[in-house]
Amino acid sequence: MSSLSGDVGGLRLENPLILAAGILGTTGASMRRVALAGAGAVVTKSVGLEPRNGHPGPTVVRLGVGLINAMGLPNPSYRAFQDEIDIAREGGVPVVASIFGSCPEEFAEIASALDVDGFELNLSCPHAGGYGMEIGCDPANVEEITRAVRRAVNVPVWVKLTPNVTDIRVLGIAAQRGGANAVVAINTLKAMAIDVESGYPILGNVIGGLSGPAIKPVALRCVYELSGVLEIPVIGVGGVSCWQDAVEMIMAGAAGVQIGTALMGGLEVIRDITSGIIRFLDRKGWSLEEIRGIARRRGSTPSS
Ligand SMILES: Cc1cc2nc3c(=O)[nH]c(=O)nc-3n(C[C@H](O)[C@H](O)[C@H](O)COP(=O)(O)O)c2cc1C
Repeated sequence: MSSLSGDVGGLRLENPLILAAGILGTTGASMRRVALAGAGAVVTKSVGLEPRNGHPGPTVVRLGVGLINAMGLPNPSYRAFQDEIDIAREGGVPVVASIFGSCPEEFAEIASALDVDGFELNLSCPHAGGYGMEIGCDPANVEEITRAVRRAVNVPVWVKLTPNVTDIRVLGIAAQRGGANAVVAINTLKAMAIDVESGYPILGNVIGGLSGPAIKPVALRCVYELSGVLEIPVIGVGGVSCWQDAVEMIMAGAAGVQIGTALMGGLEVIRDITSGIIRFLDRKGWSLEEIRGIARRRGSTPSS
């Protein structure tokens, strides 16, 4: 039987499937459940300096092709989060803390205070003023913030990038220059929905982020582009809901694959995807290493 274990962004994982930030990552108990359901690692909900309630509701709109959320980074602050991380660790897999701040000093303060297996820097949330993609669209910020956290901790640092830019490769190169162990692509795409009966925008915040099946082709393109220019690994996220989606991500060049929206249909999807990948590799007689980035070796170079 094919092995799925290996190094993903500086962490040794039993399989490359990882819980994405913000979905089932608010409590230690829910993260432990995802770990026991077969994830190779879990990423927490993003935590920041101060407690935040997030945006007014509705905060989520379900569409046939995925969903739009504008949670607004609700969190209890990092000061109240170590207990949850400790409970999550009982799941027996690495726990990565997703953190956000408004400047390098804030990121470094939060990272220095948490005892965790790795950090994922949220430089990509599309609906929180002064945080996320508002600062993460600027490569100089990405590099500085990454460097500040890299200096503050001695565990792997992943940088989660926004696709809401002209060229995501520029951000990936900035993260690599700042000392990131991996980049994570992608966060949600800026989007909105309107109720036609009333004419009101549906989300309390009007604009939110699109996730789920609709964004998978964009995520694949970003993983492909990033893995073509970076020396550090790329972790793919966006619209993965079956084993074929995960294989596509790996074929585009991903070292790990995160799953978010698909988990809302139940945690069984993790084992379904894991066993699907193993059956696929066995049928083809390929290893995980052999299929990683195969699409680049098979395809021709795009013109831009
Ligand atoms: C309800 C919800 C909350 C999210 N919260 C966060 C978050 O706190 N931090 C973050 O970096 N990404 C957050 N995300 C983005 C996801 O981690 C992921 O990048 C995105 O949803 C695409 O993956 P998917 O299509 O598998 O959901 C959130 C997504 C959703 C749907």
